[in-house]
Amino acid sequence: MPAAASPRGGIPAWLLAGLCLCASVGLTTPVLARVMPQHLYQSYCATCHGTDRMGGLGPPLLPEDLMDLPRNQAAVVIAKGLAETHMPGFSDELSMEQIDALVRFIYARPAVQARRAARAYSAASRRVELACPWIR
Ligand code: HEC
Repeated sequence: MPAAASPRGGIPAWLLAGLCLCASVGLTTPVLARVMPQHLYQSYCATCHGTDRMGGLGPPLLPEDLMDLPRNQAAVVIAKGLAETHMPGFSDELSMEQIDALVRFIYARPAVQARRAARAYSAASRRVELACPWIR
């Protein structure tokens, strides 16, 4: 009895699945990179500076609140903390890359952040759809 013909013209299903997995990982990584500072902020900073960055125990961290603080200074504050205040240093827990990402994050308006993340997300899912048209 002949083997049933593959529905995809002979390309083995495992190969398709593998290709698709690689494509989705490769194409969505940039999205994670953009969304990451948001997660870092919520895990490390939100308890004191507020989930919406409006402040709490620590001051608000929105662009208009940071106008007098140069960005490189903000990176030093995040890495080393502020002596004799409740602001801890994060150089043991966060890499310089993560601190830079957080600096960019707190100097951008929340609406801009949300737009950027949404745009990155839809661009990546479009690319995944193009690479894997059978995923809908
Ligand atoms: C335990 C509470 C606490 C946590 C957690 C915390 N901060 Fe702070 N932060 C403070 C306090 C309090 C100040 C104000 C210190 C002062 O000048 O009196 C501050 C100040 C700052 C400043 C300086 C603001 C300015 O206008 O000068 C920056 C920037 C900052 N924090 C960023 C962060 C970031 C980013 C995180 C997360 C990685 C974080 N903080 C986590 C309590 C905290």
